[in-house]
Amino acid sequence: MFSDRSSWKLTRNRLTEALEEVRSSGARVLDLTISNPTRVGLRYDEGLILQSLASPQAMDYDPQPKGLLTAREAVAAYYRREHDVRGLDPEQLVLTTSTSEGYSFVFRLLCNPGDELLVPKPSYPLFEFLADLQDVKLVPYPLIYDHGWQMDFPSLQKVVTERTRGVVVVHPNNPTGSFVHPNEQESLNRFCHEHRLALIADEVFLDYSHDRAGQHSFASNQNVLTFTLSGVSKISALPQMKVAWIAASGPASDVEPALARLEIIADTYLSMNAPIQWATPALLDQRKSIQRQLLDRVLSNLAELDRQLAGQKTCQRLHVEAGWYAVVRVPVTQTDEELAVALLRRKSVLVHPGHFYDFPSDGYLVLSLITARDDFSEGVKRLLEAV
Ligand SMILES: Cc1ncc(COP(=O)(O)O)c(C=O)c1O
Repeated sequence: MFSDRSSWKLTRNRLTEALEEVRSSGARVLDLTISNPTRVGLRYDEGLILQSLASPQAMDYDPQPKGLLTAREAVAAYYRREHDVRGLDPEQLVLTTSTSEGYSFVFRLLCNPGDELLVPKPSYPLFEFLADLQDVKLVPYPLIYDHGWQMDFPSLQKVVTERTRGVVVVHPNNPTGSFVHPNEQESLNRFCHEHRLALIADEVFLDYSHDRAGQHSFASNQNVLTFTLSGVSKISALPQMKVAWIAASGPASDVEPALARLEIIADTYLSMNAPIQWATPALLDQRKSIQRQLLDRVLSNLAELDRQLAGQKTCQRLHVEAGWYAVVRVPVTQTDEELAVALLRRKSVLVHPGHFYDFPSDGYLVLSLITARDDFSEGVKRLLEAV
């Protein structure tokens, strides 16, 4: 009765099962995987956020496939101010309810069933589901750790085929926290140009550079057709508000037909609601206070992790430039999943095993740096005791 694409393995993994058991026994679990910013004790300007959703203009129905102009202008202003992206015309922007929806529009635009997209490994686990739903085949290209994470261009050359339609980069990557550096961007442009591929850049964590310096955005990439995805889910730590976008840039001869087609995809769903579009400028504005709080949290947890790691020799933290996560290298005495389950059962600490993010081998745990400070400190202490 059902499609092959929906034949997912629906059983729970061992970590989820263990979590339910530990929680039902009444133990308080220290959750070092938390990625929901609305549950980590940030101070939001609740009055202003809720008020922004009550704009009287929202009583008018103005179905704009790319999204209301005022919202797109606010997004263009964000790129100008934060990332020095000059000349991003609001007409180059298409609003979506989430970055995930943005991905699905771009996959639909670029790929026939069975076409391929190159994706970084390790990276974000949702890609697989997004690709399955759009009948796209993901082909991983490795990121290599050598004094920091680097893209491996010889591997990219090896995996490209005539069915490849694009390269996905996550800038900075989740969970490695590594940027695509300017020299890598140049090589990527050459690679995409040579093979006639589009670039898809996921920049949801772009504002969370640990040195607090503004980073270059792919939204100003002009050399090849580029789709830059982001949204308020991370920029303003408001994932429940469902505002994201696709920014298309590159040679006009590619961007114009891409936008014309994207407009029809967006028009088919018209998924953005009016109150949220009128609220978008105010929601984007929330980033100033929220990012300050989140970066303070991330940096203080990272310093605490380093302080505790300095007292032992078994585990090391990998170099990280940005984002909400840290990767800790642990000795391989069992699989990472077994280690995570053991930590949960014995120490009531929840961490993500590296294989959730497609790390090339065992020996990696991923910790969320937005965890409340006390939980993070106690969780790391118990983790190091156990390891
Ligand atoms: C790299 C990356 N891209 C996209 C998303 C999802 O963003 P959105 O909530 O806008 O769909 C996440 C969520 O954690 C992410 O880590």
